[in-house]
Amino acid sequence: MVLTGGGDCPGLNAVIRGIVKRASQEKDWEVVGCIESFNGVLREPTEIEILDENRVAGLQIQGGTILGTTNKGGPFAWPVKNADGTWSTADRSDEMLRKLQYLGIDAVINIGGDGSQRISLGLYNKGLNIVGVPKTIDNDLSMTDYTFGFQTAVQICTDAIDKLVTTAASHNRVFIMEVMGRDAGWIALHSAIAGGADVCLIPEIPYDIEKVRTKIEECYSHPMGSPIYQRRRGNCIIVIAEGAKPKGGGVTGTVTGEVGYQHIKLGGIAEKLAEDLKAMGVEHDIRCTILGHLQRGGTPIAFDRVLATEFGVRAMEFVLEGRFGQMVAYHHPDIVGVSLEEAVRTPHFIDPNERLVHTAKGVGIELGE
Ligand code: F6P
Repeated sequence: MVLTGGGDCPGLNAVIRGIVKRASQEKDWEVVGCIESFNGVLREPTEIEILDENRVAGLQIQGGTILGTTNKGGPFAWPVKNADGTWSTADRSDEMLRKLQYLGIDAVINIGGDGSQRISLGLYNKGLNIVGVPKTIDNDLSMTDYTFGFQTAVQICTDAIDKLVTTAASHNRVFIMEVMGRDAGWIALHSAIAGGADVCLIPEIPYDIEKVRTKIEECYSHPMGSPIYQRRRGNCIIVIAEGAKPKGGGVTGTVTGEVGYQHIKLGGIAEKLAEDLKAMGVEHDIRCTILGHLQRGGTPIAFDRVLATEFGVRAMEFVLEGRFGQMVAYHHPDIVGVSLEEAVRTPHFIDPNERLVHTAKGVGIELGE
């Protein structure tokens, strides 16, 4: 049985296709898909569908997930409405394992990020034959070089910067572009370097707004041409990760109140930065662009299609080889297996001393340190 959990991500369908195509080369295996993560088994009536080669044909180019997904609840924290209208959670994992046995499921492949792989680990420890496949646009899993979906998100952000550059130059504006990534700055840093941004603010390096202001003024310090314009010309592109925070401050976000949603919904740091800069006396026009879920939608780029297909094929082979309790991972140039325990132990954040940070500084990107 295959399922997709957590936020969707370009390449999920390519993994599903890889699993099904590889399984179809074996005589004794049939693949079923569980709808909306484990919910398809936890709900009555059961929602699972048979996945054959026809069903997955051409899926490598399709964004989203044909199985649906959710980043709420799950077998260990199923939302339950109390008599007084409040919500609590119930552990339904044992009941779910019994049901999987009843359905004749021999093995499960769980495609998901850190939260989903924690669920995989919990179920593996209870005896389920399970293999994990790492997914997230945030690229914040430490045991794989890349998760699929990440490079597509970076490409979408880079394309957006390319577009902002021309309008910023035409209007002499400061553009602040907010990107996803939760507590990791990978999407921001990669796209800032690829797009040639002037400033990049990431969660791993709380920013000093004074440094940001200085860089902005530097971007306007080269007067170009006509004296008709009684102001300096220039423009400035700032990429800010949704989880970025000022020195001494916290993240910007909201508690959604959605049942079973355990995260703070990050967002709003671009507007906050704009307001703070104006309050400091920055007089240039400032506009904010928030890319939001555009970063997760649409067709995966070729790199992610290939990686997702490799993960799908190897995950199915792990099932055939009985390598349960493992997550497939990309350790260039190989697809290897790492234990689920290791996979979720430490998140993968940017080390301020690492090469990519050095590269960003090397091309003059201000990180607000
Ligand atoms: O983890 C992927 C991600 O897109 C994050 O970058 C972002 O913070 C979050 O999910 C958004 O979640 P939701 O789709 O629930 O708003």
